[in-house]
Amino acid sequence: MYRKICIGVLLAFIRLLLVDASSQESRILQNRILQLSRSADFFYLDAENGNDKWNGKRPTPEEGTGPFKTFIGAIDGIRAQRAFPNEKDSKLSIVGYPGDKRPVISGAVKISGKNFTPLGDKIFFAPFKGKCSKHVFLGKKRLIRARKPNLKKWTGSDMTGEGPYLTIKDLLHPTSDCDRQASGGYRQKNCHPNNKMGFIFEQGDIDPNWSNPKTGDIVIFQGWTAERGHIKNVSAGNILEFTKPLRFPIGEHPKSSGFRYIVEHIFEELDATGEFFCDEEAQILYLIPPEDALLDKDVFIASEDTFFIRLQLKLLFSTKVTDTKDIQFEGLEFRHSHDRNVNSYSRKPSVFHVEQTRHFSVKRCLFSNIGYTGILIYKSCNYIQIHKSKFSDVGYFAIDSSAQTKNLFIFKNTFEGCGVTNMFQPSCLHIRGAENIKISGNKISRSSYAGMRIGWQSTFTKDYVSEGRYVFHVVRNDVSNYGMGILSDFAGIYLASHPGCSGPKANLSNCHLHARVAFNTIHNASAYRYGGMGIYGDTAVSSLTVENNWLYDLDGAAVNFHCGQNNVALNNMIYHVKNGRVFGTCNAIVGKGVLLKQDLTFKKNVIYVTHRNGRLWRPFDAWRFDAPAVDNNVYYFSSDDLRQKKQFFPKTKSFGAWQRNLNDLKSIVGDPKFMDTKNRDFRLKSSSVARNIGIKSFDLRKYRT
Ligand SMILES: *[C@@H]1O[C@H](CO)[C@@H](O)[C@H](O)[C@H]1NC(C)=O
Ligand SMILES: *[C@@H]1O[C@H](CO)[C@@H](O)[C@H](O)[C@H]1NC(C)=O
Ligand SMILES: *[C@@H]1O[C@H](CO)[C@@H](O)[C@H](O)[C@H]1NC(C)=O
Ligand SMILES: *[C@@H]1O[C@H](CO)[C@@H](O)[C@H](O)[C@H]1NC(C)=O
Repeated sequence: MYRKICIGVLLAFIRLLLVDASSQESRILQNRILQLSRSADFFYLDAENGNDKWNGKRPTPEEGTGPFKTFIGAIDGIRAQRAFPNEKDSKLSIVGYPGDKRPVISGAVKISGKNFTPLGDKIFFAPFKGKCSKHVFLGKKRLIRARKPNLKKWTGSDMTGEGPYLTIKDLLHPTSDCDRQASGGYRQKNCHPNNKMGFIFEQGDIDPNWSNPKTGDIVIFQGWTAERGHIKNVSAGNILEFTKPLRFPIGEHPKSSGFRYIVEHIFEELDATGEFFCDEEAQILYLIPPEDALLDKDVFIASEDTFFIRLQLKLLFSTKVTDTKDIQFEGLEFRHSHDRNVNSYSRKPSVFHVEQTRHFSVKRCLFSNIGYTGILIYKSCNYIQIHKSKFSDVGYFAIDSSAQTKNLFIFKNTFEGCGVTNMFQPSCLHIRGAENIKISGNKISRSSYAGMRIGWQSTFTKDYVSEGRYVFHVVRNDVSNYGMGILSDFAGIYLASHPGCSGPKANLSNCHLHARVAFNTIHNASAYRYGGMGIYGDTAVSSLTVENNWLYDLDGAAVNFHCGQNNVALNNMIYHVKNGRVFGTCNAIVGKGVLLKQDLTFKKNVIYVTHRNGRLWRPFDAWRFDAPAVDNNVYYFSSDDLRQKKQFFPKTKSFGAWQRNLNDLKSIVGDPKFMDTKNRDFRLKSSSVARNIGIKSFDLRKYRT
């Protein structure tokens, strides 16, 4: 049901007729509208009874006028009625007409479930008009392109990068330093570019008799990306060729890729519930629905030819606007955007493209079944708020912002399912900025890679902000279930600078990000091979303060400062359940063979290690100039493995030997007495020894799911 939308132009304040308040949410919304109300231009939209030729001034049709019918029609209609070009979109508030359901703004071609005809005993098909898309939905559930191997079980909220997988048999062009056996080591450099063009498959994995292999894509997994190669041909010798070269040659990351791949979108592979195949030439959609689902559910094909593309609302403002409520979207539901078949690091397309805009707010909205990016804060934007909204089933990033952004507030949102289809280092939040960026109280779960990526931009000098102040504040967020066994080398909160900060000649004076990451719960990471970390500062990113976080059930280091200066990990509660390191430090990978100068502090942390192969450092992590300052920590081993006690500390030292090198002099090995380890309650009991060395207890239970 598509509900009414009310578009208010807040010239001063709003006056609005309110109808039946049923839910608490709509009451809150009504109060809010009442607060704003007084006198304003009001426009209405009604997807069922409206007409874009009307002026939108009445909520119901009357005397030859009435509400608009479509969202873009309303925007165009309002613009046409407004006098000054650069005010055409200003002071615009688009609010879901109060009621217990949000209006749905869909970018799909809808096919009624009743239009489908059976073909055999499982497959149904229906004609449609338009373009095919990777993004097809049955009701609110995402369908999966007919794939091989099939998902274990389709749920409707699956990641397209989920296993099981097929395995590449051989490279098209093996060389001595890049081959299928990984003779070139952990990272095979200099792979021949022909390996971007295809590969050799195991007999039987790909069927040369597929009626039309050219409809298919191959999802190829690398270390921290996966990309799609479009099939050109399947030829003799079990060679599969792509139409265009991949971005990365197959074979570069032998271990972390596992040489995995998935076949997508081949008609003969349409054989499991939840799969679809879209024949653009014949304009027919085929799918295998769960039993009887088509009786009461419609099918949506995300389509390019919708307002989503046109609603790249380039909300261009005069810079004089100072009203804090200039553009506001509230109580709306956005679904079914197309990805324009983008298969790269591009941040576009997005449902909202906000450019050179001041005072933009999204509140209590739902973005779901999104093909690519949800909200893109592009170029210079100032005073942007995204709050109390939900983002689920998002193709790439839920929110992405540019490095010029100032005063960005992202708070109390829920993110569930990011990097569902595009796997170029995806995350729910991809946030860059220049001043006052606050990310707080959000719940993030289910990403095929990181929870958030912060920075990855041109960074700052050390004195860009004064001591104790920050550009980025990442506080009180809950980040969980990320990685999902799909990609490797990421973190719940992954911060980075820019390429100029690595390499032997790096000038680290402008590698400072000025980020404070505090009071977050980060847990349940799962990498394909390695590196499901908690908090990760990469490429010598500097001036990070990581304090008072609960980091547990991870699949890699709790905190990793990969070189950098002025980085501090303070008072974190760490429950380390995997083998390998708790802290990461510098190594020569960042400096491309040369160790960069680093300046790191790990103090007052509680490190509770349950895995007998857990270690504080990794053997090849090292430092030059000053050693990291490590002190006032509490270490505890729940295993009584003797080797661990002898080798836990850096350079495989025992605690005693490590202390003799003047490290951890005030630290303690002993039980920190967490309140309730089983229930992951990491407050410290009053009898905890940690309190004796100045470690503070804090309660993060209320911030997590
Ligand atoms: C492909 O089809 C040909 C002709 O029907 C058949 O001889 C061959 O065995 C098939 N190949 C596979 C791999 O099924
Ligand atoms: C595609 O593969 C077939 C079968 O091996 C081969 O005969 C044909 O030449 C190939 N076509 C192209 C364009 O490579
Ligand atoms: C490093 O960069 C800073 C700031 O841009 C500059 O002042 C300084 O001269 C540079 N140092 C070197 C050795 O290039
Ligand atoms: C996180 O992992 C722990 C240990 O494997 C498990 O007991 C718990 O249910 C997981 N939590 C979530 C939210 O998945």
